[in-house]
Amino acid sequence: SSLMRFPVIPVRGIPLMKLIANNFDDIWAFRPDPSDLLIATYPKAGTTWTQEIVDLLLHNGDAEACRRAPTPVRSPFLEIVSPPPIPSGLDLLRTMDPPRVIKTHLPFQLVPLGFWENKCKTIYVARNAKDNLVSYYYFDLMNMTQPEPGPFDGYVTKFMQGELSWGSWYDHVKGYWEEREKKNILYLFYEDMKENPRREVVRIMKYLDLSVSDEVIDRIVDLTSFKKMKENPMANYSCVPSPVFDQTISPFMRKGEVGDWQNHFSAEQSKMFDEDYEKQMKGSNIPFRTLI
Ligand code: PPS
Repeated sequence: SSLMRFPVIPVRGIPLMKLIANNFDDIWAFRPDPSDLLIATYPKAGTTWTQEIVDLLLHNGDAEACRRAPTPVRSPFLEIVSPPPIPSGLDLLRTMDPPRVIKTHLPFQLVPLGFWENKCKTIYVARNAKDNLVSYYYFDLMNMTQPEPGPFDGYVTKFMQGELSWGSWYDHVKGYWEEREKKNILYLFYEDMKENPRREVVRIMKYLDLSVSDEVIDRIVDLTSFKKMKENPMANYSCVPSPVFDQTISPFMRKGEVGDWQNHFSAEQSKMFDEDYEKQMKGSNIPFRTLI
């Protein structure tokens, strides 16, 4: 199954999975509808969680309605090109009428311009760097379409140097942050969602100009808890068959916590990471409660 592991190829300087890179002209040409919603993240920052919250808000907390299909069918992944017979994101989008909820991991400058020309609503979710890295490491262990992560130490270096699929975490979080006001992007943090999920669900509801009852909000918070989503076959990526995702290596719903990096970084790795972080994030005022 290691034969499936594709290399990454740079597109305008950003390493992308080969199948995505080869298809990038079509992705760049995608024209969304003004009613489409974009959910943008660096991989493993809380995408699936946010997709589930949004779907439930759009369906007034109806759990059954939100079990109509797995996450990537309800909310297509714009740039993904999977091995056949799994449809690509663009193929799937062509079969759906707007308004659609579209996921992307593309950095801001690679998002098709139609999203901004059409003033599409956009939710960005950022997660603290070290936890994001650890989550991505486990994902790369189990996702056979991603390059092999190799030993953790080397993975930390690749993360810092922006060599992982979808590029530099630092540039990604800064890229959307700098555009958030001009482009009316709702910029959320995974740690805020963990701290007070209800408050963040309400923020998303207001951004989407929706209004659901307090009772429905409570239900959405409950249905989108880590535990409930882990048990939900339409949210836990059991839809992606082995050997593409081998969830016996690491489950997609792995831990869902803040601060798990402390179980993986040595004191020395952490110090080196923090020093580099200061340099790469210098001048940025993103309110990361970093290194929690
Ligand atoms: S992907 O592949 O980029 O779409 O992955 P993504 O969904 O962005 O990130 C997966 C991580 O998010 C955690 N997760 C959650 N945490 C808390 N609550 C809920 N409901 C939830 N759903 C998913 C998931 O467990 C991954 O993080 P780690 O740290 O690896 O557990």
